[in-house]
Amino acid sequence: MTTDILIRYLHFLGIFIVFAAVLGQHLLLKGTVPRAMIAKAQRFDIAYAVAVVVVLGTGLLQWFSGAKPAVFYTSNPVFHTKLTLFLLVGLISIYPSVFMGKQKKGDPAELVEIPKGIVHSIRLELLLLVVMPLLAVIMAKGLGIPVVKP
Ligand code: HEM
Repeated sequence: MTTDILIRYLHFLGIFIVFAAVLGQHLLLKGTVPRAMIAKAQRFDIAYAVAVVVVLGTGLLQWFSGAKPAVFYTSNPVFHTKLTLFLLVGLISIYPSVFMGKQKKGDPAELVEIPKGIVHSIRLELLLLVVMPLLAVIMAKGLGIPVVKP
């Protein structure tokens, strides 16, 4: 019981940090910024990476050793949509990560223009992250599981 609560708590904490990290990048990376700002934004990327591992780990624990049987989730397309969005956010985040990794090197005062693609990628990540808790509460209620007619 206590372990279950702790796992659920860590799942939420991880989600908060993931969202905060992406929001932090969104606030820092726009227009033309000094290179030092990109290095700052990359620190959010580290927090993001750690939090993603926590979210994934606690998600897997709830899935395979939580209070409900694994099939409760595996049989629900809403859960699969949530997992797909999680994967999608991870894939989209590669582009800003690579950009930050390359651009942080050099004179910290030098100005760098943030490509529109980076801004849009981060916005898309935020949008998908906002949808995911909705999918989570729907699937936790068992909505979406196909009804098998006898
Ligand atoms: C950023 C990504 C994620 C978000 C925003 C998210 C959101 C949530 C939320 C809000 C809940 C609580 C639902 C409730 O109790 O009503 C939850 C529970 C859960 N999540 Fe996630 N989640 C994410 C990633 C994952 C991943 C990657 C997995 C699987 C590997 C996962 C598996 C689960 C499971 C199994 C539960 C338990 C649902 C239940 O109580 O029946 N989640 N998630």
